Amino acid sequence: MDIIRVEGVTKGYPDHPVLSDLTLSIKKGECFTLLGPSGCGKTVLLRLIAGFESPESGKIFIDDTPVADLDAGIEVPPENRGIGVVFQDYAVWPHMTVFENIAYPLKIAQRPKDEIQSRVMEMVDIVGMHGLDKRLPSELSGGQQQRVALARALVGKPSLMLLDEPLSNLDANLREEMRFEIKELQQKLGVTVLYVTHDQEIGLAISDRVAIMDEKGVIQQIGTPWEIFERPVNPFVFNFMGIANFIDVRRDGPNFFVGTGTQPIPWAEKPVGDATAWVAGFRPSDVTISREGHGLRGVVRRANFLGAMMDYLVEIDGTQLRTALETHRAISENLILQAGDTCNIDFLALHWFEAEKLKGVKME
Ligand SMILES: Nc1ncnc2c1ncn2[C@@H]1O[C@H](COP(=O)(O)OP(=O)(O)O)[C@@H](O)[C@H]1O
Ligand SMILES: [Mg+2]
Repeated sequence: MDIIRVEGVTKGYPDHPVLSDLTLSIKKGECFTLLGPSGCGKTVLLRLIAGFESPESGKIFIDDTPVADLDAGIEVPPENRGIGVVFQDYAVWPHMTVFENIAYPLKIAQRPKDEIQSRVMEMVDIVGMHGLDKRLPSELSGGQQQRVALARALVGKPSLMLLDEPLSNLDANLREEMRFEIKELQQKLGVTVLYVTHDQEIGLAISDRVAIMDEKGVIQQIGTPWEIFERPVNPFVFNFMGIANFIDVRRDGPNFFVGTGTQPIPWAEKPVGDATAWVAGFRPSDVTISREGHGLRGVVRRANFLGAMMDYLVEIDGTQLRTALETHRAISENLILQAGDTCNIDFLALHWFEAEKLKGVKME
């Protein structure tokens, strides 16, 4: 069953449109991530769902009940939508203790004192803040403050939680730890989560399904993290999900060549279709590098040591490719290369796109 249904929603501001005829549904109990570049309209969508903004047209349903429908004159206020919200800049209140912060929504709802006491203390435990309920936010770490914000969003027992880049102000290590905590919390409480972020890794790590939104606010693909990463429907999705190489490939008879080069490509995985102009996408780690082995002959143009990985920019028939190799492997296989060295590049995975269909697609 769908817990959120957004049907044909349009929303813009005087100078520019943001969302146009957007349709999206989220199933009960899932952790759904909306991934898209900054400024594409993610926060606008969350604010529409939460009820802080109204759509110009279209409808929004929560649990099959319309909460926004201009034509029918329906506009349910945020506090009656049964949603917990954590915004990036929706910080905890500095003058209130942990307890008071978490208790706030229940106080506003005028719940009885003993209920507030027991529910807040339960949430304090659930988010791992036992014994810290009397502290002020200034006496907490960034991660602990974010837990308070999560507890405050969850204390009213919403069946749906909207999270808007809640970890982007945290440092990298904490971000990684907190994303697993959010996932655990979601599973423990059985709450549906709609998480929006521009961070691909978080999307892959915590989601049951992911939607990829482009810079114009159009959803390009919805699928499991695996589908999005391994079966991108177009170069925008492929590019957005990590460092990508795109090489022009031309077909000449039965053979395929890089750019205007003359080395026939020995790839097993060829594109399906009769077109002569293709674009092949791959990630730096989708290659094997050797000094003399199978593959296309190339020249290293730049070699960078990145710690765990060696990053080689390799030129093949005039086309430059970003490739990566684990440093330990590079050492054990005598593959510490320098600019000017020759090498052979073979491909483990390639994503084929017809060049003709890519006209107008933005690929950075
Ligand atoms: N209240 C507003 N008035 C005018 N423009 C806005 C307003 N809120 C958002 N926008 C614009 O809408 C676009 C999408 O914004 P937003 O949803 O915040 O992007 P993001 O995907 O980074 O969350 C941006 O171009 C932003 O400038
Ligand atoms: Mg935003």
